Amino acid sequence: METEMTAIAVTPRLHWVGAYDPQLRIFDELYPTRSGTTYNAYLLQLGGKNILFDTVEEHFFDQFHARLTSVCAIADIDLLVTQHTEHDHAGSIGRLLQLNPRLKVYGSQAALRFLGQQLNREFAGEAVKEGQVLELGEGAQLQFVLAPFLHWPDTIFSYLPTEQVLISGDAFGAHFCPAAGRLFDDEVSNFQADFQMYFDTIVRPFKSQVQDALKKALSLDIRTICPSHGPVRRRRVTEALTDYDRWSTLACAEGRRILLLEHSPHGTTRAMGDRVTQRLEAQGCTVVRFKAVELDEARFQDELECADALVIGAATINRDAGPPVWKALVHLSTVTPKNRLALVYGAYGWSGEAVKLIEERLLGQRYKLAAPGVRWQFSPTESDIAACLAQVDALLAAL
Ligand SMILES: Cc1cc2nc3c(=O)[nH]c(=O)nc-3n(C[C@H](O)[C@H](O)[C@H](O)COP(=O)(O)O)c2cc1C
Repeated sequence: METEMTAIAVTPRLHWVGAYDPQLRIFDELYPTRSGTTYNAYLLQLGGKNILFDTVEEHFFDQFHARLTSVCAIADIDLLVTQHTEHDHAGSIGRLLQLNPRLKVYGSQAALRFLGQQLNREFAGEAVKEGQVLELGEGAQLQFVLAPFLHWPDTIFSYLPTEQVLISGDAFGAHFCPAAGRLFDDEVSNFQADFQMYFDTIVRPFKSQVQDALKKALSLDIRTICPSHGPVRRRRVTEALTDYDRWSTLACAEGRRILLLEHSPHGTTRAMGDRVTQRLEAQGCTVVRFKAVELDEARFQDELECADALVIGAATINRDAGPPVWKALVHLSTVTPKNRLALVYGAYGWSGEAVKLIEERLLGQRYKLAAPGVRWQFSPTESDIAACLAQVDALLAAL
């Protein structure tokens, strides 16, 4: 039986030396967790070297330190690999460097830069390259795989051929906290919902980068995946790879698809939406309409990823677009849109800010506007309608 502060052997030469955080309910002040999380760090003892992969959130330094020193003195750590420099994994590097100033840090070029900006102190670092193999001595090797944007730009994976282990950073992770002493997927209750939630909230904006990383991972012989949060996978490895492949593959219906998001308290903007829809459908487009105030967020996210264009009809409310519109537009950055082309229109009474503010949000998310937005006061005139439909024609031409 493991005690709470003991390292856990993943293989005879690789130990988990991370920390449990069962109390955490909202990770990063953003994402809910059901059972907390773990901050996973691993110590490899191979080829006469002690190599540490990642650290933990600084508040958990004592747990980490106890587990780490149950296997190896801090002064004896030869190398530290930072797989990405987010605070929950790099947050204890500063304290480690105080204890072992000769510690050399390996990471991507971006990781070393970010770490320098976080620590504001000198340290010995070496930037790793795609596929670089580090000879550890006694024939043992460590291989680096660049995995940018999974989910930070500085992310790398580390592959240990002798152990057939992929240390994967946040990819394949889950905010799930096993009971103390437990670590592996075959020792814990089903955490598939947490695994999927993790993908949806953290990895989903980077689907094309997931596909790139998967191609590299699939060329490796992997028996165990060691992520930086949640259970280590030694039983359901293929399932994790398959899930990531499926979730990062866009499965969209054939044909031109337009997502129309509407907010229209008095119905005028929605009536314009009927005309816009007719025009688009007449040109063979499928129009999927969403009422912002009753948004099915999961469906909206899926449609954002399949839409050839996003059209927004929104009235001005209190010198702004209405809160339901902003709530929906949060999802511009939670998914990987297929095409970033957009159009905005809307009714207003006296000041009319909504169209412009929505356009600014879209431009900030790298959308292109097919035409300048159209707005009108209260009920649209014939010329307002004509202007709006001309705007739709410009969109059709840009598709
Ligand atoms: C609560 C509320 C606040 C509003 N605030 C503004 C405003 O600040 N500026 C403006 O131009 N119009 C404002 N309006 C007027 C609407 O934009 C206008 O009635 C518009 O025609 C409504 O479009 P709809 O029929 O699509 O809902 C407001 C309307 C409501 C209901």
